[in-house]
Formats: sequence, C-alpha cells, structure tokens
Amino acid sequence: NNYCVIMAGGIGSRFWPMSRTSYPKQFIDILGTGRTLIQQTYDRLQRIAPKENILVVTNEDYRELVLQQCEEMNPSQVLCEPTRRNTAPCIAYASYKIKALNPDANVLVAPADHLILKEDKFIESVNVALDYVSNNDALLTLGIEPSRPDTGYGYIQFDSTDKKSRVKKVKTFTEKPNIELAKQFVESGEFSWNSGMFIWSNKSILKAFENNLSEVNSLFVDGFSKLNTPDEENFIKDTYAVCKSISIDYGIMEKAPNVYVISADIGWSDLGTWGSIYTHLKHDENLNATIGKNVMMYESQNCIVSMPKEKLVVLQGLDGYIVVESNNTLLICKKEDEQKIKEFVTDIRIEK
Ligand code: GDD
Ligand code: MG
Repeated sequence: NNYCVIMAGGIGSRFWPMSRTSYPKQFIDILGTGRTLIQQTYDRLQRIAPKENILVVTNEDYRELVLQQCEEMNPSQVLCEPTRRNTAPCIAYASYKIKALNPDANVLVAPADHLILKEDKFIESVNVALDYVSNNDALLTLGIEPSRPDTGYGYIQFDSTDKKSRVKKVKTFTEKPNIELAKQFVESGEFSWNSGMFIWSNKSILKAFENNLSEVNSLFVDGFSKLNTPDEENFIKDTYAVCKSISIDYGIMEKAPNVYVISADIGWSDLGTWGSIYTHLKHDENLNATIGKNVMMYESQNCIVSMPKEKLVVLQGLDGYIVVESNNTLLICKKEDEQKIKEFVTDIRIEK
C-alpha cells in the first residue's frame, strides 16, 4: 500500500547560474557523487515503496529529463504540469491519481532536491510514520532540529510534554517566519524545521484538501473520472489554467488540526543555497571548497568556487566569496549576500 510522490517542478533559482529554468538543480549532480539529486531521491525511495508506486510530479518541460534520469520509470508515472502552481496543486493531482490506483494507499511526499546523509535513519523514521498514519487520521511531517534562524523554512511547534511517543502532536506550524520570530523559535527549543517531507494516508490528505483548500479540491473532484483516460491531459491543462498557486505549507499544514511531527536526525540539507552546499563539501586548510580541477587559490579563505573542468582559475585575496561559472555565465557574490541571487535572476528575466 505504500506510494511515494517526488515533487520535481521547482526551478532552484538561488542556485543560479548552475541551476537554470531549463535545467534546475534536481537534475544536476551538485556534489559530484555520480548521481543527480532526483536520482538519489529515486534510489532512496525504492526502499520505501516498490518502483512502480513512485510518481514524479514535474513541469512538462522536464518530462524527458525525468525519464532519462529515473531509468526504470514508466512514462505513466510522470505527472506533468503545464504551469507552476506551487506544491498544493502538485500534491492534489498526485493524491487523486493515487486514489484512482489504490484508495487505501499510504503516501510519502518528498522534494526531489534534498540531501540525506543518514539514509538508514531516514528509512526507519519513515516506516514509523507510515505505521502511524495507517492507524490514525494524521498529517505527519518529518522534522529536523533547527541549527540557525533560517527564514526559508517552515517552523513546527510540537507538544514537548509528550516524552514517550516519537510522533508528536503539532501545536503551531509557521511557514517562512520573519527573522525575529525565527530567532525566538530557535531559542525556545520547542520547534523543529519542516523538512518538506510529508507522510499521510491518501484518505487523510484528500479530507484535508476538502476542508482547507476546497477551491483547489473541487477542481480535481469534478474531473476525477478523466484521470487515467485520454482526456487527462486536457483536463489538467484546463485545471491548472484556473487553479490558484499556493504551497501545501500555507494551504494545509498551517491550518489543519491533525498535524503531527516525527523528528529525526537524518543528516538533512535542502541544499538551498551555495552556502549550504559549501558546508557539505570538503574544505582545504583555508576553509575553501572547490568544485573543478584547475582552481588555484592564493591568500583566500572561506570561499566556494565551482568551475567547469576545462577552465583554469587563479584567485587571490578573496574572503567569503561564491565564485561560480556555468553555462557561460560567471557569478561572483559575497557568501553572506547569497539570498540576493534570487533577485539577480529576476532582473535577468526582466531585461531579456
Ligand atoms: N511539481 C511541482 N510543481 N513541484 C514543485 C512546484 C510546482 O509548482 N513548486 C515547487 N516544487 C517542488 C520543488 O522542486 C521542491 O522539490 C519542492 O517542491 C519544495 O518546493 P520549494 O520551492 O523548494 O519550497 P521551499 O524550499 O521554499 O519550502 C519548503 O521546503 C522547506 C524545506 O526545504 C516548505 O515545505 C518549507 O516548510 C520547508 O521548511
Ligand atoms: Mg526548497
């Protein structure tokens, strides 16, 4: 009864210029391991559900990339979206598709672009979670202990009086708080980060859509009979044209009364920025991390440098910089200002 849904429709704009709209970060082997991020996710999830029960939801532009990279995936397992509508419609589409296949399914929803170093612990925690949701009407998230007041995450306040159970009732869920709130949350010790991985029975999530996002839900209810028929593509096109854009975090997790968390130390990183990838690479004695063969650094420290293989680069006197060349584009940016990369990408799009 286990199914997995891989969300792979994002564009990873903070990873520019390596991640681009035409080739986003989930399809790149960012850490040079030999497998791209979506391939690592696909490999990992085969320990949770049989291969044929793993679905990918992505933009239609990335369909071929998904099929190339997830070698044994059947084209019917790749659900294509005509436009980006964020994660709630993506999850609604997958959930109704699963309902048509197996009404009693239990589901793990996972992003395509995360790093999980402690895979055995991850599998063990997900199995505890799957067991819980098969007996309870619960929306579970996998929680991570926060290490800094990062405003890019969801913050989960859990019931800390319950010492016995690994699955804890969630008191509040706050998506992307401002920096003051994030600091308070981290200091209080009562919060986990939302990893963006969710575990629920398909019945529970469909009920939550009905109760919290009824306008999104009714679109899929109306066209349910068209799924898995030749009309599916047109139905999805029409639905996405009118569907609102909202994330599952704002749309459901912040509002539903039956949210639970299982916190786990799984060696997690969402590799969201160059700074977070820096922490996962080997550093030299001056704390520089380099990707690429011919990078020479003098009197420089705390830098991350990523260069194409064939390029010789000599750097002198840099402290705390990101230097990245990819796709004939060179970025040089202070590490502490890396959140601005998103703005640069927006400006480039406007100027084009
Ligand atoms: N199919 C599809 N369609 N996938 C999408 C879409 C879409 O329109 N938009 C985003 N995704 C995919 C991304 O590729 C990524 O794998 C995942 O959904 C999450 O989207 P992000 O855009 O990366 O979300 P976020 O990082 O801002 O926030 C989420 O993840 C954090 C942890 O990394 C939230 O769940 C936060 O609460 C969480 O802390
Ligand atoms: Mg993300």
